[in-house]
This record gives sequence, structure tokens and C-alpha cells, in this order.
Amino acid sequence: MSILFKNVFFNYKFAKQDIKALENINLEFKKSTISVILGETGSGKSTLLQLASALLLPSSGSVIVEGIDSSLSETSRYEIRKKVGIVFQYPESQFFLDTVFDEITFAPKNYGIKENLKDIVLKIIKELGIDEKLLKESPFNLSGGEKRKVAIASVLSFSPDYIAMDEPFVGLDKTGKNRLVDLILKLKDQGKGCIIVTHYLELLKDIADEVFVLKNGKLISKFEGKIFFELLMNLKRLKFEMPTFWEILEVFMSSDNKLENYIPPEELVELLIDFKKRGA
Ligand SMILES: Nc1ncnc2c1ncn2[C@@H]1O[C@H](COP(=O)(O)OP(=O)(O)OP(=O)(O)O)[C@@H](O)[C@H]1O
Ligand SMILES: [Mg+2]
Repeated sequence: MSILFKNVFFNYKFAKQDIKALENINLEFKKSTISVILGETGSGKSTLLQLASALLLPSSGSVIVEGIDSSLSETSRYEIRKKVGIVFQYPESQFFLDTVFDEITFAPKNYGIKENLKDIVLKIIKELGIDEKLLKESPFNLSGGEKRKVAIASVLSFSPDYIAMDEPFVGLDKTGKNRLVDLILKLKDQGKGCIIVTHYLELLKDIADEVFVLKNGKLISKFEGKIFFELLMNLKRLKFEMPTFWEILEVFMSSDNKLENYIPPEELVELLIDFKKRGA
């Protein structure tokens, strides 16, 4: 069972115009896996996460979560939202209650979890390093980092099978970042699928299982985590800048989203070295 994207296209409607955000995406996110999504600004990362959690529906194609098609019905979307929790890129956009406690307990209450709520909350805030005193505060009055942690806590509290996090490290201090890395690894060990959009690649280099790269709404490559970070180290050694890297990936890899046609990442390093030698 997994989150499966099949030929997914997504357009936003804006001022009666269609804005293309995702194009023919085919991929699968699995449980017990840490999947990282990379891409330049506007490449479609946040849109992808919202499709995975049935907050958006494909314009065409399908998103199937644990066998449930998000386009089927309101009931199917409710079931998917229970299975896939999403931490938004801008935490304020998910807050709407008066206290941090209410915010963290809203989803579990909504999904019928009534017992030991206080214990669940205390355990999660300890793991994330949220001060217990903040439970009575308004989430809107917190600092950026604390807001981020509360947004994460309010998703962990209903224990979804998959946790999609959009830039979860932004605003966190060093301790907060390290705590979150440990937590992500723990979630994976508990069998959860973790889907993470981030620019803080360094933090995930030892734990990422796979890396997906988006460019202009297309999935241009997928790497095994270890191979991706080896490649990245080589790029640093060769003094490639990240934007150049995206350009090169697009040139070297077929962009028809059939991953089997891609150049194996191991060979890419050789190609890049060659590319550099030729003075490109
Ligand atoms: N609500 C919206 N209405 C219209 N267009 C949108 C909307 N949200 C996103 N878009 C457009 O869809 C495309 C993909 O946006 P998306 O937010 O998914 O990218 P992203 O990779 O998350 O970017 P960032 O790194 O800046 O967060 C962009 O061209 C963006 O301008
Ligand atoms: Mg985004």
C-alpha cells in the first residue's frame, strides 16, 4: 500500500486562466520511507503535497492513497486526510483555534480519538521541545519556530500513516532542527511514510531513502538517497551551483516522466565531470 500518483496533472484557476502547476506526475510514496522532494521555487512541491493529502484534486489522472482514489467522493477524501497529515509551508495557514492545546487536539478529536488526549499532547510536545506553558497561549502569538513546532504537533497528534511536511525546518534553531531529524527517523521506524519538502538538504543526508526532483511542474528525476548525496558531494567538489545542477539534470535526463528512461545517477557523476571538463 502506498500513495500513488498516476498521470497526474494539476492546474490552478486564476482570473479565469489555467495556471499549470503539475504535469504528468507518476510516482509512489511508501510507508517506512523518508522521501525528500526538491525543486526550485514554483516547481510544484507544495501542490504535490496537497494532492497527496487530498486537499487538492487532480485536474486529470489519479491520486490513490492506500487503495482509495481521492477523486471518488467526499468520503474517500475524508479517509485520505485521516491517513495523510500535512504540515503546511506557512504554519499560520493551518491555525484557527484559541490555544495551542486546542490546536493540537483538534484533529484527533475530529477523528474520534478521545482517550488520553492530554498524555498524547504531553508526549508530542516533549519530543518536539515545545514548552508546556505554551499550551494555554494563542498559536498566533508564538515565534516562527514555535509556530512550526505546533503545526507539526497538530499533525502528529492524530497519528496518520503518512506525514507530509512542507519546509518543516524553517525557523527552527539548531536543537529544534536536530530534534526534528531524530523524530522523522523515529516516525519511519514506526512504519510511517515521511514526505519532506526542504531546502535543508544537509540535515537529511544520513536519513533520506529517496529524493524526487521537480522542475517546472515535472518530475525530472528520482534518486536513491545515498546516491543523491554522493552526487551532491561531487557537485560541491566540482563547484557546481544548485541552479546549474537542476539545468544539467533536465538536459541529461528524459523529462517524459518515465523514470526507466533516465540515465542512472551513478553515470551522471561521470557525465558531470565530463561536462565540467568541456568548460561548460
Ligand atoms: N493558489 C494558487 N493560485 C494560482 N497559482 C498558484 C497557486 N498556488 C501556486 N500556484 C502556482 O503553481 C505553481 C506551483 O506552485 P507551488 O506552490 O506548488 O510551488 P513550490 O515548489 O511549492 O514553490 P515554493 O518553493 O516557492 O514554495 C507556481 O507557478 C505557482 O505560482
Ligand atoms: Mg511551496
